[in-house]
Amino acid sequence: MKHTVVLTAAMPDIATAILSRECDVLTHISDDPRTEEELIDILSDADGAITILTDPVTRRVLSSNPNLRIVANCAVGTDNIDLAAAGELGIAVSNTPGVLTDATADLTFALILAVTRRILEGDAMIRNEEFSGWQPLMLLGSELRESRIGIVGMGRIGYAVAQRARAFGMSVGYHSRSAHPETEQAHGSIRLALDALVETSDIVSLHAPLTTDTAGMIDSRALALMKPSAFLINTARGALVDEEALAVALENGRLRGAGLDVYQHEPRVHARLLPLSNVVLLPHLGSATERTRDAMARIAATNVLSWLGTGRAPNLVAPK
Ligand code: GLV
Repeated sequence: MKHTVVLTAAMPDIATAILSRECDVLTHISDDPRTEEELIDILSDADGAITILTDPVTRRVLSSNPNLRIVANCAVGTDNIDLAAAGELGIAVSNTPGVLTDATADLTFALILAVTRRILEGDAMIRNEEFSGWQPLMLLGSELRESRIGIVGMGRIGYAVAQRARAFGMSVGYHSRSAHPETEQAHGSIRLALDALVETSDIVSLHAPLTTDTAGMIDSRALALMKPSAFLINTARGALVDEEALAVALENGRLRGAGLDVYQHEPRVHARLLPLSNVVLLPHLGSATERTRDAMARIAATNVLSWLGTGRAPNLVAPK
């Protein structure tokens, strides 16, 4: 009998093309993030699932269908999945590492440039018909050359951000659980404790996974250590940052600006961030290029097919 694979969202066609060679594929489309109940419902016939990062793949969801054998998250982060429960229930979990590195590092720099060079304020000025001619003091921003980026989390994306930063003439500091001699050699980057990193950086850019250790790591204390001229960039996970504390720091001029692609309670954005002109807000677009999303869908589908067919898969997060 053919396996049934459920896609919890519309995906690039390649996912269905790969899976339908051997499986029945059911795609459930929803505009809003799913609830646990909805997920239990749509996964009830599934042997495998391709999920997205807004799906709450909780213990309840995982234990509701005894046939479920693999959850392939179409994302590199797996913080939406109860990995311990999956391990106990013998359900494999996979992710899509590697293929979204460049897209996310590029978007990090899009945010850095947008906020340091006040791109959105300039755009608004034109559209509001407030541009009355070049002025020496109009919308002055800050330059990247000879500034320091502090990268929190030196995985693949952190490394790609360091590469780009060097090309912009920045020096690189990083904070990571382990040392990364390859970036120290390639980029002259130095490893620092989190406090020292945030204190000495002109731009703090977050690239750590969301775990119990990293949740809320950029809290009011860390924000108070940052230079008033510094910027915070987050393309990782919203819950790394205390958004209320960030809004207060930005309102008070304790921090010069922020560029955010991710939020603590997505899709909700903290109401105090919305009126601030020194924040650039994007709707979680880090991996949103055609090439990258195709590659992510291909990997997720391959993981499902491989696990259901052979009990092995290339990108397993669990079991390891
Ligand atoms: C995106 O945020 C991802 O984890 O892939």
